[in-house]
Amino acid sequence: MSRIFSGVQPTGDLHLGNYLGAIRNWVRLQDDYECLFCVVDMHAITNWQDPAELRANTREVAAAMMASGIDPKRNIIFNQSRVPAHAELAWILNCVARLGWLNRMTQFKEKAGKNRENASVGLFAYPVLMAADILLYKATHVPVGEDQKQHLELTRDIAQKFNNDFKKELFPVVEPLIFGAGTRVMSLRDGTNKMSKSDPSQQSRITMTDDADAIARKVRKAKTDPDVLPGSPTGFAGRPEAANLMGIYAALSDTDISQVCQDFGGQQFSAFKQSLADLAVAKLAPIQDEMRRLMDDPAYVEGVLADGAKKAQAMAAPILAEVRETVGFL
Ligand code: TYM
Repeated sequence: MSRIFSGVQPTGDLHLGNYLGAIRNWVRLQDDYECLFCVVDMHAITNWQDPAELRANTREVAAAMMASGIDPKRNIIFNQSRVPAHAELAWILNCVARLGWLNRMTQFKEKAGKNRENASVGLFAYPVLMAADILLYKATHVPVGEDQKQHLELTRDIAQKFNNDFKKELFPVVEPLIFGAGTRVMSLRDGTNKMSKSDPSQQSRITMTDDADAIARKVRKAKTDPDVLPGSPTGFAGRPEAANLMGIYAALSDTDISQVCQDFGGQQFSAFKQSLADLAVAKLAPIQDEMRRLMDDPAYVEGVLADGAKKAQAMAAPILAEVRETVGFL
């Protein structure tokens, strides 16, 4: 059976990009695959995190996954640091990955910014830990948003080099699963920038904890241009904000973007924004209610994570043993 692994960092409030680009798609995959969904707290600390906030955010991400419809009975939901084998395999893979490969990672360049010398070594090695997450379970498919594509190509390179170096087909070559609308949700303030947790402006993103008023306000204030909405996707040329808002509508309503263009083409942004805000509230409100309910029961959420970690650990153990044997550890 094909196996899925995917993860989210507990570094702050999840946003619409995380939901539409990743978590929502995971919900659909749980029927057809054996799935591991991970709160990657070890990735989170590549930038300093307040320990109490990290703990709270770890619970919140797990709650968001379950509230979105991921069933903890059918899937493994856990936090990465509970399974130390991730760190152990990451070290081995650090010795397989090449410096030149990591130097090409655009996400590191974006996150390190101008002050590269001051970035943590962990931030640089981040994609290798991600490869370890996936390969530790010999996962075959990884559902992510568009921004993780380069990291998955690196995972494939690392797996292939490991297999070549040790002349053994130990790791599978993983396939990214990147789904239609919603794979690249852009900032509400600038349609050319990705919606991101690290954007200093709260106005740039709709979060999974925003209430109906906040969602409506953010959509109302979202950047637009002076034209009416295009009647077909060809009209998006040079109009990133129109493309983004209509793309979000398509993703939330499960239609394709051409349909949204047909329905709203020729209208003013103001009328469309009202429909978009109503739709976003209607889709997010039930998830938010369930998230709140789960957050009121931290013992339950932690129980799910502990139980998931036990299962993940059991799945990883024989694979890690095979890797240890292959590299020549006694
Ligand atoms: P993270 O925490 O940045 O994001 C979690 C998921 O959300 C997707 N995403 C988006 N999708 C569409 N539009 C956006 N604006 C947007 N922003 C984020 C991401 O593509 C991702 O799928 N490195 C990963 C976490 C990770 C992981 C893994 C993923 C660690 N190990 C192994 C897959 C497999 C990350 O930082 O995701």
